[in-house]
Amino acid sequence: MQHITLNTGASMPMLGFGVFQVRDKQECEDSVYEAIRIGYRLIDTAAVYTNEDAVGAACRRAIADGICTREDLFVTSKLWVTDMNDYDSAMAGIDASIEKLGLGYIDLYLQHQSLNDYFSAWRAMTDAYREGKLRNIGVSNFYPNILTNFCEVMEVTPAVNQVELHPYYTQEAAIDNMRAYGVVPEAWAPLGGGRYNPFEDEGFRAIAEAHGKTVGQVLLRWNIQRGVVVIPKSTHAERIAENFDVWDFELTDEEMAFVASHDMGYTGSRAKHFDPDFVRMVLGRDSRKQAAKS
Ligand SMILES: NC(=O)c1ccc[n+]([C@@H]2O[C@H](COP(=O)([O-])OP(=O)(O)OC[C@H]3O[C@@H](n4cnc5c(N)ncnc54)[C@H](OP(=O)(O)O)[C@@H]3O)[C@@H](O)[C@H]2O)c1
Repeated sequence: MQHITLNTGASMPMLGFGVFQVRDKQECEDSVYEAIRIGYRLIDTAAVYTNEDAVGAACRRAIADGICTREDLFVTSKLWVTDMNDYDSAMAGIDASIEKLGLGYIDLYLQHQSLNDYFSAWRAMTDAYREGKLRNIGVSNFYPNILTNFCEVMEVTPAVNQVELHPYYTQEAAIDNMRAYGVVPEAWAPLGGGRYNPFEDEGFRAIAEAHGKTVGQVLLRWNIQRGVVVIPKSTHAERIAENFDVWDFELTDEEMAFVASHDMGYTGSRAKHFDPDFVRMVLGRDSRKQAAKS
């Protein structure tokens, strides 16, 4: 396992396990337990996934079974926008995540979106970080303009920015901007998030064959090799194992460039953060009228 050092000095695994849309509690707990058993140490959940409790239960079970210690784990969760109304609501959201996970502290806590009052929420996260409740704090879905302003004006710089990063949306310039501020890029949907069907791409298949690996492993390796942390999700034991097995091969410069050549820019993104309808939807506003009223 490769690690990357955060601006706090903490060491973060470059490969983790995501649990977005794993709503069934038992399935979530079993998948996370299986992932830890195989060797994953970074687990990525969020308040809005409503499975922090199942993630916590799996981690505690793995610790009780002697598979790992609490210190070995790097558990990430995220503050949802409805808990970002002001400082107090953010602090309540942080405490709720800590309580649901039941692991004492959270290794990395992210603001899920740059929406609602994310400045007050960051101040609450900063205080929780200073108190040791949150060991590292970061952001998610912060586009370069927003991240730049944030890094320039806030007292504490985010350790991580988790954004959509896969061959169809490579965001090279955004990654360069993160690096300029010492913010580690982390990829959500590193396998394309169930879209684009990269697994049938003949070029990807040829690269995979050349290395005796699968397309999924090539895509994960590509992000890791460009310094991006990946958190693939799967509820299938064989894929959980497959996605972890990316350490015994290296892509050539030509192969790296070929993967990146699939970039479609913003058209290739799943979440449309620049679309006002998307913003209202994420905030839970049903219509423009309702947004105008509040
Ligand atoms: N910050 C954010 O706004 C945000 C947004 C989205 C996601 N995330 C985080 O990022 C994690 C990963 O993103 P994601 O879950 O959207 O997408 P992903 O990991 O790119 O893709 C998951 C999909 O690929 C399938 N899959 C997994 N391994 C495979 C393999 N080896 N071969 C073929 N198919 C495979 C999974 O199916 P099966 O489960 O059936 O195997 C699932 O349908 C999430 O779980 C979440 O923790 C964060």
